[in-house]
Amino acid sequence: MNPTTTPAANIVLIGFMGCGKSTVGRQLHQRLGYPLVDMDQVIEQRAGKSITEIFASDGEAAFRDLETALLKELNDPAAARRIISTGGGIVVRAENRALIKHLGYVVWLHAPAAVILARTHNNRARPLLDTADPAARIHELMAEREPFYQESAHLKLDTSGLCSTELATGILECSRYFFNNRA
Ligand code: S3P
Repeated sequence: MNPTTTPAANIVLIGFMGCGKSTVGRQLHQRLGYPLVDMDQVIEQRAGKSITEIFASDGEAAFRDLETALLKELNDPAAARRIISTGGGIVVRAENRALIKHLGYVVWLHAPAAVILARTHNNRARPLLDTADPAARIHELMAEREPFYQESAHLKLDTSGLCSTELATGILECSRYFFNNRA
């Protein structure tokens, strides 16, 4: 990352597991035509295994290394604008938070713990929630991560009661203002 170059103009979606990043990312992709980078999908494709398998065989730290490496790769101001949908734990590393901010306009999609629990229930694809008490785990991880989402985001959107089309419209308007007024 070179802070003296023109900042990149991507739209970056952050937020807890199940907050709707992938769905809203697809909406933005359809509406703007920018390529969509779903970081979890790219990591899985490159590793040739699922995130659950990466966690099981290599551990969480190895997965976080893959996230950081991909973020560094995406930090190319010369690249075309993209919609970047991140994994929920991307903000845990300070290095990642700095990289994310430099990628463009960062939107935190927020949802209450009860909504997250309902959306992630019965989904075994998230190793961190594959525990005896996922509700407690969600509360614990949310408490730990919320300050990091806050620190990383230009915009926080409460997703409660809004569909992905409405969320995408809000993001489009706010990002246009952000990019037009950025120094
Ligand atoms: C994780 C969130 C997941 C995925 C991995 C770890 C996390 O992505 O990156 O299971 O630490 O919160 P989603 O937020 O897309 O579920």
